[in-house]
Amino acid sequence: SVTKRGDYTPPAYLVETVDLRFDLDDTGVATRVSSRLVMNRNEKAPGGTVPLVLNGDKEMSLVAGSLKLDGVALPADAYTVDSSGLSVASVPTGKDFVIESTVEIAPSSNKALEGLYMSGGNYCTQCEAEGFRRITFYPDRPDVMAVYTTTITADKELFPVLLSNGNCVENGDLDGGRHYVKYEDPFKKSSYLFAVVAGRLVSLDDEFVTCSGKKVTLRVWVRDGDVPKCTHAMAALKSAMKWDEDQYGREYDLDIYQILVVDDFNMGAMENRSLNVFNSKYVLASPETATDSDYNGISGVIAHEYFHNYSGNRVTCRSWFELTLKEGLTVFRDQCAAAEGPGAWTPPVVKRISDVTRLRSSQFPQDAGPMAHPIRPESYVEINNFYTATVYEKGAAVVRMSRTLLGKEGFRRGAELYFERHDGQAVTCDDWMKALVDANPDGPDMTQFMLWYSQAGTPVLTIGTAYDAAARTLTLNVEQTVPATPGQPTKEPMHIPLATGLVGPDGAPVPVDVEGTPAAYTVVLSVRKAKESFVLRGVPEGTVPSLLRDFSAPVKLVREGGVDRQEVAFLMANDTDDFNRWEAAQTLGMDVILEYVNTRESDSSASFEPLSDAVIEAFRKTLRDEKTDPSLRARVMVLPDEGYVAEQVTVADPLLIHEARDSVKKQLATALRADLEAVAVANAAATAGEYKIDPASQGARALKNVCLQYLAALGETATLDACLETVRTGSNMTDVLAALGVLSNSPDCPQREAALSEFYAKWKNDYLVMVSWLRIQAMASRPDALTAVKALMKHEAFDITNPNNVYSVVGGYAMANPVGFHSPPSGEGYIWLADVVLQLDKNNPQVAARMVSAFTRWRKYNSSRQETMKAQLERIRGTKGLSNDVFEICDKSLAA
Ligand code: ARG
Ligand code: ZN
Repeated sequence: SVTKRGDYTPPAYLVETVDLRFDLDDTGVATRVSSRLVMNRNEKAPGGTVPLVLNGDKEMSLVAGSLKLDGVALPADAYTVDSSGLSVASVPTGKDFVIESTVEIAPSSNKALEGLYMSGGNYCTQCEAEGFRRITFYPDRPDVMAVYTTTITADKELFPVLLSNGNCVENGDLDGGRHYVKYEDPFKKSSYLFAVVAGRLVSLDDEFVTCSGKKVTLRVWVRDGDVPKCTHAMAALKSAMKWDEDQYGREYDLDIYQILVVDDFNMGAMENRSLNVFNSKYVLASPETATDSDYNGISGVIAHEYFHNYSGNRVTCRSWFELTLKEGLTVFRDQCAAAEGPGAWTPPVVKRISDVTRLRSSQFPQDAGPMAHPIRPESYVEINNFYTATVYEKGAAVVRMSRTLLGKEGFRRGAELYFERHDGQAVTCDDWMKALVDANPDGPDMTQFMLWYSQAGTPVLTIGTAYDAAARTLTLNVEQTVPATPGQPTKEPMHIPLATGLVGPDGAPVPVDVEGTPAAYTVVLSVRKAKESFVLRGVPEGTVPSLLRDFSAPVKLVREGGVDRQEVAFLMANDTDDFNRWEAAQTLGMDVILEYVNTRESDSSASFEPLSDAVIEAFRKTLRDEKTDPSLRARVMVLPDEGYVAEQVTVADPLLIHEARDSVKKQLATALRADLEAVAVANAAATAGEYKIDPASQGARALKNVCLQYLAALGETATLDACLETVRTGSNMTDVLAALGVLSNSPDCPQREAALSEFYAKWKNDYLVMVSWLRIQAMASRPDALTAVKALMKHEAFDITNPNNVYSVVGGYAMANPVGFHSPPSGEGYIWLADVVLQLDKNNPQVAARMVSAFTRWRKYNSSRQETMKAQLERIRGTKGLSNDVFEICDKSLAA
């Protein structure tokens, strides 16, 4: 059934206090959960008699006689239980009443990893979005906020550590070798933030002293042996705590902050109040086992979950339609902290490039396909399907635009007003914007801006320029269109901040002088109409505009008349906006790749024209430019990825796109060989010695490894030998995986085989390294990838109930390996994926739904590919007993 945003009504009943008791059994087959809820009628809800409805999953069995109202067992005719919950026809009005119940559940057979489940022999929980109802009967919605007390009992030997939200207020031994602990969480919270943990765990402990001098205990809980791998996460946590104090005035509000690390987790991590649960991938790291990108992922997710303590927990969402209120804001906050905070690991521009790349490669396709939805969706079948790139990444881009329009100071005033005004409340995106506006009485009108919350689709900005030599003016003629998306055939023009600069003919910046705005080197033009012109004054002849600086809006920028390669190469070399230097390189790379694709599409036997010297020299110049940070040069050298290229064409031929991109890469490698070798050597020296993750070391490694990837394109034995040597003896996983990746992508050769098998032998006992090993093979860009993937699924390192394993093998193949997925001639890859989705769905619908999403863009391909993919979607949709999760994705993908 469909839930609609417009149907929101306040909860009929509220919960004052929740008293829970978990009696954990040794093996997770019969766990008892008792609850005592003090409730009352919500005065803000419509009057009249309404039954008390508590959500509850069908896997929960109510213990006979345990359901009590005000201490008296309810007779069978006073309530009903069905697959969605429990309903009590009549409860007292005008006063508090107490509802008690005990249920029995089997966490060990919970493979959906939602609710209470087991991972590595330990108990843990995941309640967002609607997992709490799999633990106990409860009004499981974020706008019911209550104070929780939790008692846990378990065998002391098997489960020595017992944790829940808040502070431990009591503990002791019980008969029969059992023990108990009692936790109190002093602040009101929504049920999705609840957590319990029980297991054999050890911790890395630390302390953070807040700005007011309060000492906070910090603890990261892991299995025995993993403590040394938690130091980076701990440092990241402290940086995040400090950053939220400095940037938003948010001081941590409890005495303790704990993190549990598990290998089995559907997502990256979860911000449960004072007791986060993390996928081990986002905590555990050592130089030998984790790459720079793993380290950066850890910093990012640790900060993200910490920032939720305010943007999410203290101020939460009124309903799940408002999810971007907490997720878009929190992603924006973690992006800024990683770019600018004390623990920053790249120059800000490189972090910005990563974030924009992620938005364009994951969110733009979604916005252009059948699952397109506004950052605040209007309806859903399964809320778990809406933890999307749109809600998260585009949501963050919308928050960023608000800051651009209000200015940093104004934005901070607004955010602080929001946190103070709505503390302890469950609110909406409108409340957020109202706080921003109220804190900025002289700020811009944000009414039109709110369309970003309601209109789906990536706006296209087409910009033409006209230069008037006599008047020395440059006119920008801007046209915006917002494409139709499912359920939204027509759109209103949006309010788009267009950050604009000018680069003079000599390469020096020229101030932007537009009527009504003080002149500056970068001016944010507010585009508000479907067609609009901006006249820039005092512009010397030959000046080049630098548009959409720092990616000031999540739009597609099109230059009227097509790409001017000379202009783009000029910006690559001279723009003072580093982001746009990178963007210019992307534009240039894309333009040559698309030219190749078009050549072959109009004549299937045509060969590619050699790259022009101008293109080669533009890349050579950047590569050699020692004044530019190595990490930025590394990014500039990476050509647009195949998925992003596919988005630019109407009918995508993934094999042709690969061939075209590969040809550009090989030609650059051939032409730049000497430079690539020199830069690789210079930067290899910089990474020798003790492993450091500071920006300079990361930049040197990134640039060296990009050079290696280019040189490998030449396919020479010496390069393959060098890669094998790195796999054998490399001192850090960044270099080792870069080398292994090169070999994995190579055609069969002894070096490839040796590297993959020796790597396995060395690391087979390290779960996370194996996750990378699986992924690198599933992603190998080879026509026979399916055979390899089938073998990996049978490998002892693979466990289909483990989400990271599935994301590596199934996701790596179906979503990150276009050549592998689309090569098999009769669509065997598609049929295989459908089989796997159906198998996954029986255990874990969330994971299955993520994998089936590989089919959503089926209309992008030629008719024979379309037919097979469509047939698979239909076959899955027609399968009996399918989850809502998978059904919704298939059904929407198939809709006209
Ligand atoms: N709130 C978590 C985060 O962004 C994600 C939880 C997602 N859970 C889910 N069932 N979809 O950090
Ligand atoms: Zn989040």
